[in-house]
Amino acid sequence: MLKIDLAGKRAFIAGVADDGGFGFAIAKALAEAGASICVGTWPPALGIFTKLLERGKIADSLQLASGGRLEFERIYPLDAAFDQLADAPAEVRENKRYRDVGDFSIHGAAARLRQDFGDRPLDIVVHSLANAPEVKQPLLDTSRGGYLSALSVSAYSNIALVRTLGPMMRAEGAFLSLTYMAGERVIPGYGGGMSSAKAALEADTRTLAYEAGRRFGVRVNAISAGPWASRAASAIGFIEQMITYTTANSPLPRSIDAVDVGATAAFLLSPLARAITGSIVYVDSGYHIMGMAVASATPPAPAGG
Ligand SMILES: NC(=O)c1ccc[n+]([C@@H]2O[C@H](COP(=O)([O-])OP(=O)(O)OC[C@H]3O[C@@H](n4cnc5c(N)ncnc54)[C@H](O)[C@@H]3O)[C@@H](O)[C@H]2O)c1
Repeated sequence: MLKIDLAGKRAFIAGVADDGGFGFAIAKALAEAGASICVGTWPPALGIFTKLLERGKIADSLQLASGGRLEFERIYPLDAAFDQLADAPAEVRENKRYRDVGDFSIHGAAARLRQDFGDRPLDIVVHSLANAPEVKQPLLDTSRGGYLSALSVSAYSNIALVRTLGPMMRAEGAFLSLTYMAGERVIPGYGGGMSSAKAALEADTRTLAYEAGRRFGVRVNAISAGPWASRAASAIGFIEQMITYTTANSPLPRSIDAVDVGATAAFLLSPLARAITGSIVYVDSGYHIMGMAVASATPPAPAGG
C-alpha cells in the first residue's frame, strides 16, 4: 500500500500556539505519519499554550487516529521578527512575556535544536506564522513601519528560517510555508501589507527553492490555503464572510478545513513529493481557478429572516 511514512523524521513547526490553526493541523498530520514534532511558539502566546497543554484543555485535539497522542518533543520560544537576540529592542527583551524565556530569536531556536539533538537534527521545517500590526488598514493607508513589520514577520522570516536551518537538514529535507490568495489577487480588507507579504513569500518560495536546493539539497514549497477561522484569521474581522463567499463560488462547494491542509502538507513534506519544489499548491476547493463569481458575497439570510 502506498503510504506517507515519516518514521524517524523530525519536524520543526514555527507558529503553533493553540489547536485551531494550520500549524497544529500540520503537526498532527506529520505525527500521524510517524514524525516527531518540535514547535516554535511566539513568546506572548507561550504561557497560554503550555497551560492549555498542561491542564488537558486540548486533550481531545491531541488524539491521533492511530490511537496515540500528539506529543511535542520540544516547545521553543520563537519570535520570527528577530534573527539574533541582539536584534530585539530592549523593550521587547525586558517585556515580562520575553525576559525569562531565553533566546527567542531564530538563531536561538536553531541553537537549542542543535544542543538538544545534534548538528543535523531536522528533516522538515514549516513556517506557519504571519502578523501585520495594521492588518485592518487598507494598503493605501498603511504606514511604512506597519508595512515593513508585516513583510519582516510574515515573509523575511521564512528566508531566515531556510538560511539558518538549511544546514541542519538531513538528506531529502523539505521546507513549507503557508500563503493566501491575497498575494495574487485583491481580497478587500486583507490589509496592512499582508497581501504584499504573501506575494513576497510566494516569489521567495521559487527563488529559495533554487538557491537552497543547490546549497542544502532541500525542497521549498508553499500551500495556498482557502480561508479558515483560525485565531489569526479571526483577527482580520471578516473571516466568516470570506468562508461563505469562497465556498459558494468554488468548484467544490465545501469550505476547507485545517485537516485538508495538514494532509497536503504531509504529502508535500514526505519523500513521495521528492520531485516537487518551488511550487505553490492550492488547498482551496479549487477557488483559485474561478474567473467569475457565481454567488453573491453576502451570506444567506437566516431561515425566516
Ligand atoms: N486562516 C486562514 O484563512 C489562512 C489562509 C491562508 C493562509 N494562512 C496562513 O497560515 C499561516 C498560519 O496561520 P493560521 O491562520 O493557521 O493562524 P494561527 O493563529 O494558528 O497561526 C499564526 C501563528 O503565528 C504566530 N505568530 C505571530 N507573530 C509571530 C512572530 N513574530 N513570531 C513567531 N510567531 C508569530 C501566532 O502566535 C500564531 O501561533 C499564516 O501564514 C497565515 O497567513 C491562513
